Amino acid sequence: MMQDLETLRTELLAEIAAAADLDRLEALRVAALGRKGAITERMKALGAMAPEARRAAGQAFNALKEEVAAAIEARRTGLAEADLEARLAAERIDITLPVRPEAEGRVHPISQTVDELVAIFGEMGFAVAEGPDIEDDFHNFTALNIPPEHPARQEHDTFYLRARADGSRMLLRTQTSTVQIRTMTGAKPPFRIIAPGRTYRCDSDATHSPMFHQVEGLMVDETTHMGHLKGCLVDFLRAFFDVDDLPVRFRPSYFPFTEPSAEVDIGCRREGGELLIGHGEDWMEILGCGMVHPSVLRNCGVDPEAYQGFAFGMGIERITMLKYGIPDLRTFFESDLRWLRRYGFAALDLPCMVGGLQERR
Ligand code: DAH
Repeated sequence: MMQDLETLRTELLAEIAAAADLDRLEALRVAALGRKGAITERMKALGAMAPEARRAAGQAFNALKEEVAAAIEARRTGLAEADLEARLAAERIDITLPVRPEAEGRVHPISQTVDELVAIFGEMGFAVAEGPDIEDDFHNFTALNIPPEHPARQEHDTFYLRARADGSRMLLRTQTSTVQIRTMTGAKPPFRIIAPGRTYRCDSDATHSPMFHQVEGLMVDETTHMGHLKGCLVDFLRAFFDVDDLPVRFRPSYFPFTEPSAEVDIGCRREGGELLIGHGEDWMEILGCGMVHPSVLRNCGVDPEAYQGFAFGMGIERITMLKYGIPDLRTFFESDLRWLRRYGFAALDLPCMVGGLQERR
């Protein structure tokens, strides 16, 4: 019998070692150790043996069972590893290959400019803030120091929604300055945010669209002064237009929510019907700004005796047209694919200050 066991052992171990896959290994396991397996069947003969012989044979059987089970386990691990190796080799991708060059989609110039604004002001420590397009009178006007009879209200050609039960009417925000109020109310200075977003005015011609985009800026703390305002905006304009010595001019102006207020022009010239940003005899108005009016701070619960700062606002279509030589405002919103192919941007050219913004055209 011992001779028989030794033969069985040799056979089984050889078959296990030769098993080519996990299925074959499982079949071998059942054939050896299963209920009707070769080892199990032989163990049934133990009952008929004399006690001495039974003990010796029982030990031999158990040793064989353990050895065979361990061999199967070892082979299983080996096969699983080989399997994984094979899959890794078969599914290997070469990540050094270039991305599909035929990518079709284009980034709209407005989105591109917003990304560039976020990159430049982000570098200066400004976070992006948001507010709703549908606003109330308080955030769009009153809190910004534009009381009900103020003439500035007429200039905004506001879209109003239907009156509510209490007679008040919501409106489509006419300026992103609303986000100044939303940022400061119920929060503690310092504030340093930009707020790009949609704005609306009931006006439509070659240079006006009823929906357009603005970016607002707000910086408030205990010490920020007009010098910081100038430095910040000069740096921004030079980075955005990619002209290191771009001439920038601050002209006294008026806005209800700032005091003093200024409008900012950049140098330009016209050549053969084309407008070129940079040096030249002409100036181009580009944005409005000023020191946040004490009343605005007070309206937001910020103490104007302790805090001060600046704000600015500019039209995104306008700076985009100037930078990328887009001649007509209305084309921004016509969803013309040919236009988008010409003026749009590749999806993977994300602007950043280290990698560089897009070149001017
Ligand atoms: N809200 C102004 C507008 O729509 C733009 C503006 C001017 C925003 C001066 C400001 C600012 O924050 O300080 O015409």
